[in-house]
Amino acid sequence: MKVVGIVGSPRKNGNTEFLVSHALKSIAEEGLETELIPLAGLDIRPCTACMACQKEERCSIDDDLFPIYLKMKAADGIIIASPVYYGSATALVKGLMERTGFISRHNGEVFSHKVGGPISVARRAGQNFTLAQLTFWFQILGFFTPGSTYWNMAVGRERGDVERDEEGLRIVRTFGKNMAFLIKKLNA
Ligand SMILES: Cc1cc2nc3c(=O)[nH]c(=O)nc-3n(C[C@H](O)[C@H](O)[C@H](O)COP(=O)(O)O)c2cc1C
Repeated sequence: MKVVGIVGSPRKNGNTEFLVSHALKSIAEEGLETELIPLAGLDIRPCTACMACQKEERCSIDDDLFPIYLKMKAADGIIIASPVYYGSATALVKGLMERTGFISRHNGEVFSHKVGGPISVARRAGQNFTLAQLTFWFQILGFFTPGSTYWNMAVGRERGDVERDEEGLRIVRTFGKNMAFLIKKLNA
């Protein structure tokens, strides 16, 4: 049983990465395998609506997306996390969701019945909207999303700020525990 945690910030070692690592650590404590996948520095472009994925399980765009899609397909659980950029998920996350979602949809709904959920972080505002964007993706693709003690969000601006957001850390830790619980039940 494996969970991949996708870090949708263009900034390496930032707040989003810390939160996803924290959640994955709580999942690893339950005996599941985990892998952190930072998107920073990768080339992930938006969907061009070419519809190549309707004919076969591939994307016509030659960038860094497809190996990540294969890791998502192989996983039992997927976390997608984004910092808030102008009230929204980042362009990296949007590109990933558009394209992996369409490939899955047209090739047997490969994400259906997996466990997944979002995490967002912002300096001040926009976490709710960003969580909604990510949640729509998880829901339309047939994921089961466990809860936590609050919505999966944290507050921070500069690198490391989020390490002082004790409630945010507790929320993502509990979310990780609940993901592991559900994945184990589904695999029992
Ligand atoms: C282009 C850009 C847009 C941003 N927009 C918002 C915003 O709308 N609301 C907000 O509270 N913070 C905003 N922020 C701040 C980030 O969400 C915040 O610094 C976050 O912790 C970054 O996460 P990271 O360290 O993982 O990159 C923005 C930052 C950047 C670079």
